[in-house]
Amino acid sequence: AKEPVRVLVTGAAGQIGYALVPMIARGVMLGTDQPVILHMLDIPPAAEALNGVKMELVDAAFPLLKGVVATTDVVEACTGVNVAVMVGGFPRKEGMERKDVMSKNVSIYKSQASALEKHAAANCKVLVVANPANTNALILKEFAPSISEKNITCLTRLDHNRALGQISERLSVQVSDVKNVIIWGNHSSSQYPDVNHATVKTPAGEKPVRELVKDDEWLNAEFITTVQQRGAAIIKARKLSSALSAASSACDHIRDWVLGTPEGTWVSMGVYSDGSYNVPAGLIYSFPVTCQNGEWKIVQGLSIDEFSRKKLDLTADELSEEKALAYSCLS
Ligand code: NAI
Repeated sequence: AKEPVRVLVTGAAGQIGYALVPMIARGVMLGTDQPVILHMLDIPPAAEALNGVKMELVDAAFPLLKGVVATTDVVEACTGVNVAVMVGGFPRKEGMERKDVMSKNVSIYKSQASALEKHAAANCKVLVVANPANTNALILKEFAPSISEKNITCLTRLDHNRALGQISERLSVQVSDVKNVIIWGNHSSSQYPDVNHATVKTPAGEKPVRELVKDDEWLNAEFITTVQQRGAAIIKARKLSSALSAASSACDHIRDWVLGTPEGTWVSMGVYSDGSYNVPAGLIYSFPVTCQNGEWKIVQGLSIDEFSRKKLDLTADELSEEKALAYSCLS
């Protein structure tokens, strides 16, 4: 039998946490043959609710779930974890300055970085979900220098999946037949959802999305803004932000990272830029990646037209600005 994998979920008493922990316990993230021990962290005001989630996990009698740690102690939460999904953070409240929100999250990610660095298992894989996701991940990287930059990522898979969903709806094809969309850049409305390399499996073979949609105007405008603004549309409809789709996408992100992407398919992940596609090195930026043997690799050599170039640069500029703002909160 396999040894259990320890998975940390921070902010586990929140909305995404509530959707995510049962998925992990059912094997959606790491496979239905992989036992897991869940580590759940939240802050003291949420301790009672967190304990309620733990009670429900016991009640659900998940066969793969070999243990649950529910705590408000960061060190206890981080000890021995193999995978860390960072969902906890400080939300933007009405009337708050961007800088104030950034400053709260910088201090959270700085201290959680140190705890992970000191107490997580060697080679722990980190996924930051909490916003501003890219910049929180960058702060985590900066303050956990002994964790390889290869192991620190942020979630843009939800945006990637949203793009697949929009194409599938537009063409009335199965979402599983659509692949290789790309989310470039920030997990924010400046992101660039790119379909220039995306394809659809048809009875006549794989066809480019552009050829099938036959409507460049829709692809270059409405499609992009729909994906960029989808989070806001969900809030408007649900009066709460995306949770089940965020949780599901977080599972997709870790599963593909650990178990590999299918041959010929890439996914989008926020990763540490090495300067690929002339994206400034040292930003956490969403790229197309393939994964094998537990490691991601940026897909190289894709052609970038002038329209796309501008959009890649725009979202990079926003990330550079966020980075500067985050650093100004440190001093
Ligand atoms: P939520 O407010 O329901 O839950 C957040 C939880 O984090 C709360 O239980 C809170 O007590 C906890 N928390 C706050 N500070 C903490 C700390 N220092 N340590 C541990 N836990 C802490 O929010 P929700 O809806 O679950 O969203 C969580 C985050 O995910 C938000 O930042 C949201 O913006 C982000 N998000 C990111 C997405 C992405 O695609 N990257 C998609 C959807 C949401």
